Amino acid sequence: TQYTVAVVVGSLRQDSINRKLARALEQLAPKEFTFRYLEIGDLPLYNQDNDPNPPEQVTRFKAELAAAQSLLFATPEYNRSIPGVLKNALDNASRPYGQNAWAGKPAGIVGASIGTIGTAVAQTHLRSILAYLDVPTLGQPEVYLFVKEGFFDASGNIASDGTRKFLQDWMDRYTAWVKKIAG
Ligand code: FNR
Repeated sequence: TQYTVAVVVGSLRQDSINRKLARALEQLAPKEFTFRYLEIGDLPLYNQDNDPNPPEQVTRFKAELAAAQSLLFATPEYNRSIPGVLKNALDNASRPYGQNAWAGKPAGIVGASIGTIGTAVAQTHLRSILAYLDVPTLGQPEVYLFVKEGFFDASGNIASDGTRKFLQDWMDRYTAWVKKIAG
């Protein structure tokens, strides 16, 4: 069986450490997992008036989610919560009422920060939103990364052996759990 992971990066920044983290994690995944990075930067600001006729970017985004068996969120923390661009993506794909494209997709959550608590507060907020959206989330291990210069090597891999082993263990647990849920 092949599995498609829809990757949602909560940062639009070109050099996002969270996008780099997702790319490095992807290298640790088993062959049967394919990672698709979804564009959230072009989604219009959610407006409930559009529910009867959603913008085409939203229709595309929801179709990409429907084609995936699981989700991976790699997000920064902005002002002790999730970035607005991520909340906008979550809101857009959750509607119209009864047509929530997130529902039932098992999700892994990781985050990298230049601050020492490593997105812990943002991830707690994200877990709370995902619970409402009927998205099961992998509880352990939690991944709160404090990223300093040299965290990624020149090829974009995790430089530290200890951190790489920790993330390998996370990936092994995540993929085994997705297989159990997605079948
Ligand atoms: C931040 N940053 C930040 N870091 C953190 O640990 N907790 C926080 O609450 C915030 N708040 C915050 C707000 C805003 C508007 C910005 C731009 C940044 C710093 C953040 O960790 C850093 O910019 C990361 O590099 C953002 O992740 P990406 O874009 O590199 O993936």
